[in-house]
Amino acid sequence: MSARVTVRVPAKVNVQLAVGGARPDGFHDLANVFLAVGLYDEITVTPADELRVTCSGPDAAQVPLDRTNLAARAALTLAERHGLGAADAAVHIHIAKDIPVAGGMAGGSADGAGALVACDALWGTRASREELLDICAELGSDVPFSLVGGAALGTGRGEKLRALEVGGTFHWVFAMAGRGLSTPAVFREFDRLNEGVRIPEPVASQELLDALAKGDAGALAAAVSNDLQPAALSLFPELARTLDAGRAAGALAGLVSGSGPTTAFLAGDAAGAEEIARALLDSGTCRSARVAVSPAPGATVV
Ligand code: C5P
Repeated sequence: MSARVTVRVPAKVNVQLAVGGARPDGFHDLANVFLAVGLYDEITVTPADELRVTCSGPDAAQVPLDRTNLAARAALTLAERHGLGAADAAVHIHIAKDIPVAGGMAGGSADGAGALVACDALWGTRASREELLDICAELGSDVPFSLVGGAALGTGRGEKLRALEVGGTFHWVFAMAGRGLSTPAVFREFDRLNEGVRIPEPVASQELLDALAKGDAGALAAAVSNDLQPAALSLFPELARTLDAGRAAGALAGLVSGSGPTTAFLAGDAAGAEEIARALLDSGTCRSARVAVSPAPGATVV
């Protein structure tokens, strides 16, 4: 057992988010093509007298530090499954947060996956990959992907993963919005906008999978789609101006990331990405703009 473990976990962008109708359990069936991007949260765990969560970073004030935090829930779930008592499972979880909060980039999910891997190493519980993935799926639909990283097709509610091949590096710009959006609220708005509409079963686009496999940014730009985008724009209409600004600055594609409100822009190369980020900041239509490349590795002990 070590006295301190740090795990680095990436953010994600959904290059395709195909959403089916609401299921009886309230979730939606998805064809969700996840791509991990090189913006990271770092989760550090150390033994403590009781379970405690702290957070640092520009958005830290918005992060809940109680047991609703997915990092705390991950630690409690692992401890319970391995029969650890309160004293053995007491841990201080520190989140160094760089992924936008409530931004549609799976920041909370990253912290859940990171705390799980970190506590497993700290406590020597040696959970199998299968058990870790099972706990991740219990914590939330996007958490298994935060564990595995790279690129994957998520089906079911997004938690059943099939790894995808990526044949090159993609250059992205992410524009952070002035406020967050709640994922359940965006799905509810999707339901409201689609009331009375027969929604087809969600399927992954073969063109998109081919573009990823080839590492072809132009082809990927032509194939990206997000069925939650109209709902996110309906709740946050100002995002349309951010999308226009990024496209006008030469982005190959611009879309809302997941349930938003972060917007994602695909650039042709690293220099193009820097230029788009500058133009987005100058446009005054976002709080900040960051460049990042994909794919990125999943939760990794550093
Ligand atoms: O799984 P997770 O807790 O991250 O989901 C958050 C919320 O997003 C759910 O409570 C639900 O409202 C919505 N959701 C959904 N369909 C999915 C995934 C999430 O409706 N496939």
